[in-house]
Amino acid sequence: MGVRDWLAPRLLDWMMRSVDDLRPETVSQAHGEVLEVGFGTARNLPHYQPAVRSVTGLDPMPTEGLAIVEQRIAQARFPVERTVLRADGELPFDAGRFDCVLTTWTLCSIPDPLAALSEMRRVLKPGGRYLFIEHGRSERARTARWQDRLNPLWRGLTGGCNMDRRMDALVEQGGFQLASLDRFQAPGPSLLACMYRGVATRER
Ligand SMILES: C[S@@+](CC[C@H](N)C(=O)[O-])C[C@H]1O[C@@H](n2cnc3c(N)ncnc32)[C@H](O)[C@@H]1O
Repeated sequence: MGVRDWLAPRLLDWMMRSVDDLRPETVSQAHGEVLEVGFGTARNLPHYQPAVRSVTGLDPMPTEGLAIVEQRIAQARFPVERTVLRADGELPFDAGRFDCVLTTWTLCSIPDPLAALSEMRRVLKPGGRYLFIEHGRSERARTARWQDRLNPLWRGLTGGCNMDRRMDALVEQGGFQLASLDRFQAPGPSLLACMYRGVATRER
């Protein structure tokens, strides 16, 4: 394992602590068989409620053997299966397999988000729910212009995170129907703290 592979999940886990307060409202709505895309370092696991039967965590970043991740998985009250895979390719799951799909601060990092959303929709049951909290493009024109200007630099520095994506538009283009959407400014740097919290459905 190279230094980068060793460092990446540890650094990510440390950085993602800053948004822990925002997780429960979205994660607690999950039920049944859940697919979590962009599983990261399993920071959402403690927030799932008893209505959840299992979680399949998908992420291209390997975290096998990282103590804090193993501990979160061991403490879960439901089975957790990790799959090291990117979401913007064909997913190895049958159509309609999951009751819920969840992403938290992940659509920003997926190179082809529409391909991922299309696969997420395919593996979600008709009537199932896609729960998300993501950061993205600001509602303020001036901030959005700065996001566009700085995005190439930011993407390069972070290894793939985009700050200027219109998340609600992407979710709808991916074939979902938005049932609720809350856009708000979280504490933190204004370019990175424009949040999109929502629930979308797969109607048929
Ligand atoms: C900012 S982190 C968020 C991690 C986690 N969801 C959380 O809330 O702590 C973004 C995650 O997206 C993952 N990711 C990047 N490209 C991906 C892809 N093509 N498919 C699925 N996940 C991807 C990264 O490995 C990383 O774990």
